[in-house]
Amino acid sequence: MESSTRLLIQDKYFVPYLSEQQMRQRVQELGKQIATDYADKKPLLLCILNGSFIFAADLVRSMDTVCQVSFLKYSSYIKDKSSNQAKDLLGIQGLNENLKDRHLIVVEDIVDTGTTMDKLLKELDSHKPASIEIATCLFKPSALKFNISPKYVAFSIPNHFVIGYGLDYDNYGRHLSGIYICDEDE
Ligand code: IMP
Repeated sequence: MESSTRLLIQDKYFVPYLSEQQMRQRVQELGKQIATDYADKKPLLLCILNGSFIFAADLVRSMDTVCQVSFLKYSSYIKDKSSNQAKDLLGIQGLNENLKDRHLIVVEDIVDTGTTMDKLLKELDSHKPASIEIATCLFKPSALKFNISPKYVAFSIPNHFVIGYGLDYDNYGRHLSGIYICDEDE
């Protein structure tokens, strides 16, 4: 059980924003929708580490369809700020799967400026997949700097820094079952 009051993570305070129950319910809905849309397409889910590990685990378990799951690792945030560069730490070249003619679903924790997605989508596209869509747990539309439109979004949120459900501040807070938002008053 998590405290429902303010949490101090390193030097910042966070307050509850989306509960564990809200996350569970919405992610299950999304998983069911994806399973319906991809029936018989055997999609390959490419989950972006580290942040998407909890979302991806819950999402795939809600998807009653044949699919494959693989992982890529990108990093773009330093503490609570975007570096505006997506560093490829475990890239496409490390995948076992051939992407050609596959239906790809990129599974992200959050689309913020879109830097990571823009870079990744271009790389994926060069492998000639049958289709590419984005499934993201969170989306900050007002922070977006690229022409990206995630098809599957659990929650759109305002342009504030959040943690929990896999998302971190300085690699802390990932374990929280709900989403917590930075308390701007501090
Ligand atoms: P983008 O490349 O700017 O879209 O940022 C994508 C990555 O930045 C995400 O995969 C997260 O790892 C990180 N990020 C963006 N916003 C937040 C946030 O509010 N909290 C924690 N991490 C974030």
